[in-house]
Amino acid sequence: MSRILVTGATGNVGKHVVSQLAGAGLQVRALVRDPDRAKLPEGVEAVNGDLSVPETLEPALKDVESVFLIWPGFAAETARDVVAAIAAHARRVVYLSADVEDLADGESPTLFHQEVERLIRHTGLSWTFLRPVGFAANTLGWADQVRQGVVRWPYGEARRSLIHEKDIAAVAVHVLTSAGHGGGKYVLSGPEQLSQAEQARIIGEAVGREVRWAELPLDVAREQLLAAWGDARFVDGALAGWGAFVDTPERITDTVPKLLGRPALTFRQWATDHATDFR
Ligand SMILES: NC(=O)c1ccc[n+]([C@@H]2O[C@H](COP(=O)([O-])OP(=O)(O)OC[C@H]3O[C@@H](n4cnc5c(N)ncnc54)[C@H](OP(=O)(O)O)[C@@H]3O)[C@@H](O)[C@H]2O)c1
Repeated sequence: MSRILVTGATGNVGKHVVSQLAGAGLQVRALVRDPDRAKLPEGVEAVNGDLSVPETLEPALKDVESVFLIWPGFAAETARDVVAAIAAHARRVVYLSADVEDLADGESPTLFHQEVERLIRHTGLSWTFLRPVGFAANTLGWADQVRQGVVRWPYGEARRSLIHEKDIAAVAVHVLTSAGHGGGKYVLSGPEQLSQAEQARIIGEAVGREVRWAELPLDVAREQLLAAWGDARFVDGALAGWGAFVDTPERITDTVPKLLGRPALTFRQWATDHATDFR
């Protein structure tokens, strides 16, 4: 049977990729940085490795046919060596990218995902890029404020088509376990466009409390994001992106229903699944 290595196996998406693959009876290996801390389903092999130290990946890549790759952080400094190591062992990679444009040779990336994609395209691997829009899970950052009944954040009227992490994982599993996805660049979204103020209200309804929206001044938001992310370019890019969704809502695609044969999960479903995280 062909073994699949899942990176980011403890993260939002990776943990569902691991459990869905294991649930289907497939041979799954999880790349983890701390095997004692990682809670993995029964039967899943955990192997230590760090994407920022490519030479640590050899044991995890041994006898692997496919890799689900995520790229943590905001820079792709070690991506070249990581991608080369994957290409030396595996046949297929499914990369969790973002909704980005292709990067031509010689062109500078605006986001590190473009660079990782370009590196992968230049290998002999069979590759598929998953390009999700914003994750519904980003709203977990509001949890403390939801508990107080007021979400203070910029751009309450920005409309987004946020996607449930389970749908991204389900698409990843579909692509990892079926043929015909080589060269696919799949833009994945949720089924509806909701303003951020509506998202806060829906979370409140799932939790059973009234949640109000209060517009946060941009300079305060920028300061908070800088403290959290530490990367000014990424912060400014994110703020500009959210601002643009006020006039031009984030797009909806039909990729999830086409690939999975069912509608994409709604934000309300996501909020219900995560109600305890907001209580
Ligand atoms: N949020 C969004 O709206 C959005 C939209 C599009 C694309 N994305 C992309 O999605 C990816 C994040 O996915 P996610 O939310 O599922 O992840 P996540 O919940 O942020 O978790 C990160 C995962 O990566 C692992 N990790 C961190 N540093 C590592 C390292 N140096 N070596 C090996 N593993 C490491 C973590 O493992 P530990 O347990 O060891 O910490 C964890 O499993 C990012 O690439 C992001 O750019 C996000």
